[in-house]
Amino acid sequence: MTITFEWRGAAENEEIGRLHAEGFDHAYDPTDWTGLLSRHSLGWVTARDHEGLVGFVNVIWDGQAHAFIEDTLVADRARRQGVGKRLIAVATEEAKGAGCEWLHVDFDDHLKSFYYDACGFSPTSAGLIQLR
Ligand SMILES: CC(C)(COP(=O)(O)OP(=O)(O)OC[C@H]1O[C@@H](n2cnc3c(N)ncnc32)[C@H](O)[C@@H]1OP(=O)(O)O)[C@@H](O)C(=O)NCCC(=O)NCCS
Repeated sequence: MTITFEWRGAAENEEIGRLHAEGFDHAYDPTDWTGLLSRHSLGWVTARDHEGLVGFVNVIWDGQAHAFIEDTLVADRARRQGVGKRLIAVATEEAKGAGCEWLHVDFDDHLKSFYYDACGFSPTSAGLIQLR
């Protein structure tokens, strides 16, 4: 199966929303993804096969040195084939090309192997406050 990866690739709100709902196990909601991406992101990466969108990752940033990975998503039917790793590799190259110095991510413990071993992130201390 051929999968095509694209930085800032075109994607419909509905297909991103469906991938998000599948990946994070919640009901579909009609988020204006394209509006959010155009206003708040350095970029994003799409992965498509012959059936449609199978992968997505959003790269937000501070406009200078720091870029942040959000919503790394691969459709169930395309998992464990290296799609997630490739999404992050494209995001990393593009953030570097945009002049960023650091790429951040946070994740649950069960994904340590994905982010550290497969994608090359180093462990660091980080913090989080739940606001609502
Ligand atoms: C996490 C996710 C993006 C990984 O995508 P993927 O395309 O399946 O990952 P890859 O095939 O590139 O994985 C590369 C390696 O990372 C590791 N890995 C990937 N998924 C893993 C998982 N769920 N648990 C543990 N290790 C994992 C494995 O070592 C894998 O290599 P292997 O298949 O040869 O063992 C995908 O499972 C997903 O969309 N999950 C639901 C949404 C989510 O939790 N996103 C992350 C938010 S922080």
